[in-house]
Amino acid sequence: MKELIGPFSQIITMANVPERGAINDKSLEIIEDGGVVIENEKIIEVGVFSLLNKNISDTREINYPCVLLPGFIDSHTHVCYYGNRSDEYAKRNSGISYQQILAEGGGIHNTMNSTSNCTDDQLIDDTLNRLKRHFQEGVLTCEVKSGYASSLEDEIRMLKVINQIDNDNEIDLIPTCLAAHVTPKSYESSKKYLESILNELLPKIKEDNLSNRIDIFIEEKAFSISEASNFLEKVKNDFLITAHANQFTSGGLKVGVDNGAVSVDHLEVVTDQEIDYLSKSDTTGVVLPGCSIGLGIPFAPIRKLLDNNCKVSIASDWNPGSAPMGDLLMQASLLGSMEKLSDAEVLAGITCRSANALSLEDRGSLQSGKIADMIGFETNNFRDILYNQGKLKPSFICKRGKIYN
Ligand code: NIG
Ligand code: FE
Repeated sequence: MKELIGPFSQIITMANVPERGAINDKSLEIIEDGGVVIENEKIIEVGVFSLLNKNISDTREINYPCVLLPGFIDSHTHVCYYGNRSDEYAKRNSGISYQQILAEGGGIHNTMNSTSNCTDDQLIDDTLNRLKRHFQEGVLTCEVKSGYASSLEDEIRMLKVINQIDNDNEIDLIPTCLAAHVTPKSYESSKKYLESILNELLPKIKEDNLSNRIDIFIEEKAFSISEASNFLEKVKNDFLITAHANQFTSGGLKVGVDNGAVSVDHLEVVTDQEIDYLSKSDTTGVVLPGCSIGLGIPFAPIRKLLDNNCKVSIASDWNPGSAPMGDLLMQASLLGSMEKLSDAEVLAGITCRSANALSLEDRGSLQSGKIADMIGFETNNFRDILYNQGKLKPSFICKRGKIYN
């Protein structure tokens, strides 16, 4: 049955936003006193409330000032983990680097240990709690990586848990296999480990349909450029690929782009030449302000990426090491202030352009035929959302046509 929802003070549809490059706020479609007609999980029509109002008897009234946006899409997270690394956070703030902690056997290895040693219930409970918070903060679709496993069996377990949680929570999850995060200590070399991922793990993932996306951490102390090239070359015909690239050193971006990656994520350290290379590709650069805040390092140069006509999205990277905060809207707002982004650029980065980064065509904007994933903020001016730097939370959430508050 059709249902009309509204009136909303403004609907920011994010329809017809260009896929790449800078965006002026003037190009945002803003419907004043708008309404949305939904049926089952889908949007049927978006328009002026009083004009939509005529034929539909079932109306959900919004009786307070409310600005409606598409649900946020977080295209890069590691929210499936167990344990805590606050000691390492303090250690980093005392001057010891993330890479040094990793080289000494901590960092990602630390979370691999705690995650491999916890029970399924512990892992599920903690992950669900993070996702519950994300949902209340407006994230209605979330990519979740594996990558905290000490063995291939544990990798399968993580991906199964992520798939199970996808069924048991409101947010749609996009599982990504990040077995190639760092080489577990039990393997004698990274070469052997990558071979066993290719020969043993990926066929199983394919067979059990656990993920259609493969990620790799291309970095000193993780996987080298030549290891990653070799690996991605073998993976790219069977899976979508994405890469952790250019976090501390240059080079990974090109490997990702050359292998047709849907996204290359991080880009805190990126040369002009690499920006040019990205701009001529179909790959999205995903910037991760939460990681810069967590590690105390400069933001990826998103202004420059946009001005050079790259595809760019913004994600939280929520993880226990580099990005423990996990508040996507707060991080994107701060990035907008520090990097001088238009409201349109920030909002596109966490809606329609994130959908592109995940190759999702059915969401990211409020248009007829899209999934009815919508969030409303109590205000009559959309600019208040970023102005409040993440402290204004959604007061209205509609996920796949179901209204939660
Ligand atoms: O995106 N750098 C690699 N992976 C994550 C951090 C993982 C961790 O520290 O646990 C990132 O920053
Ligand atoms: Fe990450």
